[in-house]
Amino acid sequence: MTEQQTTDNQATMEKITSLAKRRGFVFQSSEIYGGQNGAWDYGPLGIELKNRIAQAWWKEMTQLNDDIVGIDAAILMHPRTWEASGHVENFTDPLVDCKKCKSRFRADQIPEENLLTKKCPGSDGKFCDGELTDTRKFNLMFKTHIGPAEDTASIIYLRPETAQGIYINYKNIIQSSRMKIPFGIAQIGKAFRNEIVTKNFIFRTCEFEQMEMQFFVKPGTDEQWFNEWRKRRWAFYEKLGVKMDHLRWHQHGPGELAHYAKDAYDIEYLFPMGWRELEGVHNRSDYDLSRHAQYSGKDMQYIDQENNNAGTSVPRYTPFIIETSAGLTRTLLMILCDAYDEEKVSGEAGSAEDWRTVLRFHPSLAPVTVAVLPLMKKDGLAEMAKDIQKVLKEDFATDYDQGGAIGRRYRRQDEAGTPFCITIDYQSKEDGTVTLRFRDSMEQVRIPKDEIASRIRQEIKTYKRSSS
Ligand code: GAP
Repeated sequence: MTEQQTTDNQATMEKITSLAKRRGFVFQSSEIYGGQNGAWDYGPLGIELKNRIAQAWWKEMTQLNDDIVGIDAAILMHPRTWEASGHVENFTDPLVDCKKCKSRFRADQIPEENLLTKKCPGSDGKFCDGELTDTRKFNLMFKTHIGPAEDTASIIYLRPETAQGIYINYKNIIQSSRMKIPFGIAQIGKAFRNEIVTKNFIFRTCEFEQMEMQFFVKPGTDEQWFNEWRKRRWAFYEKLGVKMDHLRWHQHGPGELAHYAKDAYDIEYLFPMGWRELEGVHNRSDYDLSRHAQYSGKDMQYIDQENNNAGTSVPRYTPFIIETSAGLTRTLLMILCDAYDEEKVSGEAGSAEDWRTVLRFHPSLAPVTVAVLPLMKKDGLAEMAKDIQKVLKEDFATDYDQGGAIGRRYRRQDEAGTPFCITIDYQSKEDGTVTLRFRDSMEQVRIPKDEIASRIRQEIKTYKRSSS
């Protein structure tokens, strides 16, 4: 598929943004004041989805791997951290400004001809022939002050990646958790970058979340582990039921490699605006630990007691690091785009043929797993439905909706991506059975109410995305 093509599920960024707002996934930050560029708020469905993606990643990394532990390091770190990491010197974008329309551009994202002629390319479809400034380096780190004095001694940065909080704790982890190389440390947390171009909804924002795992290995085994982690990260998306033909690898060429990287591959996803980076897998060599050793004066070497042969000195080395780095908020956008579908359906519950918008989330990621819907409010159906919901709440995220025609209620749940609906009708009162309705196929089956929980658990386990 080419860069220009949109995805085949008819998702456009406008539709996704509008659905996200309408259904309470994501709102513009500070909307009543005209909005804050580069920042977004996650609503009731959004925070559930974000938490589930984070949980899936956390489980994949820590629960399923004995050799990976977690950490939650502070966002504010000693400013020397960022000198050691190379971010003060190297974490920059090349920028040019138009002197006439005041638009700001990344020099590497406008046509070379404009740079050569110093002519503004115009922005947001508006023509401008103003003169461009010279290219200058712009550091992406947010800088502020800590303590009462606003002088150079009080400068502190908001972390632009979560990774450094792991590196500076690597010795603490070895000592406290007795981890032995090879081992990993995982972390999910906020990161901040003063991004100049923040279009495409939540794709690139100034405040975002990352899910990063740093795997510490013996030098010489790094390439083998790098390939292993590439395989495992690819398999993770397969497990989440993502359309695999919308994913591809992109290896960084020499000009693209970050200052710390020996080798790097991105997993790219075909977003509505084209192929874009979703996650990076990096071989960071011994760059980070060597730099922290140099800047802190502390020994960052690993003492390899396991390979301590009698009569020889204990082997010591600075581990190499294989990093897997995914954006949590960017993954949420990917999951929304991937799940989005519009489908022509013939009437359900008596309604005429119409279109439905459906989010085909993997049931383990869906913000609401099961909605409970009494056919009528009266005749004890609502009470029975509430009793059923009360039981299901212990195991699943539930919703209860008794308002409006049943067909319209199903549509509302489809738009929220709820994989299962339970409908209680007059027969339910007589024989204790309910209707289980599946979001993807819209099929309905009758089951005893006592079997709802076990059936849903089974359906989640064996879920395969059917159509989109
Ligand atoms: N520790 C390495 C690192 O931070 P990166 O390629 O700069 O590498 C990793 O970022 C991931 O973080 C990206 O693949 C993307 O998913 C996410 N990310 C980076 N900048 C972002 C931004 N401004 N907004 C949202 N997500 C971002």
